Amino acid sequence: MNRVKILITRKLPEEFVNPLKDEYEIVMWNSEEQPASIDFLKKEVEDASALFSMLSDPINEELLSLGKKLKVVANLAVGYDNIDVKAANQKGITVCNTPDILSDTTADLTFSLLMATARRIVEAAEYVKQGKWESWSPFLLAGRDIHHKTIGIVGMGKIGEAIAKRATGFDMEILYYNRSRKLEAEERLGAHYRDFDSLIKDSDFVVCMTPFTPETKGLFGESEFRKMKRTAIFVNASRGAVVDEDALLAALEVGEIAGAGLDVFVKEPISGEHPLLKLPNVVALPHIGSASIETRSAMIELCFENIRRVIQGKQPKTEVKI
Ligand code: DGY
Repeated sequence: MNRVKILITRKLPEEFVNPLKDEYEIVMWNSEEQPASIDFLKKEVEDASALFSMLSDPINEELLSLGKKLKVVANLAVGYDNIDVKAANQKGITVCNTPDILSDTTADLTFSLLMATARRIVEAAEYVKQGKWESWSPFLLAGRDIHHKTIGIVGMGKIGEAIAKRATGFDMEILYYNRSRKLEAEERLGAHYRDFDSLIKDSDFVVCMTPFTPETKGLFGESEFRKMKRTAIFVNASRGAVVDEDALLAALEVGEIAGAGLDVFVKEPISGEHPLLKLPNVVALPHIGSASIETRSAMIELCFENIRRVIQGKQPKTEVKI
């Protein structure tokens, strides 16, 4: 009897994949660094029952239509804006993501990015490594305080709440904006709900955690950066396209805001020549929000668990519902 085929779009460590090989036919892209080619995906999806995808793979209607036997797409991310979920569901394909298990790890990274930007950690570390440190001086690489400042979190999902929890340890005033109020989180974390405009005006750190949807596309543009404090630091660890990058660049260049910590970009990977990367007050990371060994391992296991369940006709653990 033909074994059920699982198509994996990136090379994963053998320890995760080998135990599945007795039961399933595994077809896996052969590179850890490079994304699977569209031709490979189109060819291999034809007889696959499950597609294990990365957030960088465009899982569009065309690809889904080719997957005549496809039952499940398991995305290695909490975000699923790379997948046409509506088209998948119309074809009876279940879409799964990896929420919750990455919240603390992503919050750790986001808070580190905020701190690195505020305290100029990357600039300072390079300064020492490049042998530029010749004397101590009072304002050498002086940054901005984090403690007792105001953090404004746009998008108070599980990750937003985990960031707020970290902010309590720094005695920060916590503001948030979300589609719906989070009364329990307000109580537990001492967070205050604000409308979007007053949040961006009053925050020292504006942290963007909102998912990318047609409604949030370009949410942070020219007028939003103009409304922020000139001392504000903008942090984005959700999706690049929530920000108008030209407007961000202009705001940083003319000093409308003080700095930006960015884990995500409109086009990933961002070109090393991008003007945002030339600015000393920008800390840029390669979309590593959930990238700890522990969490990525748990995410891979969860994707396989979801695939196994759907193939067995059971309810997956974390189905995307739109
Ligand atoms: C995700 O999983 O969607 C996030 O981008 C984590 O980095």
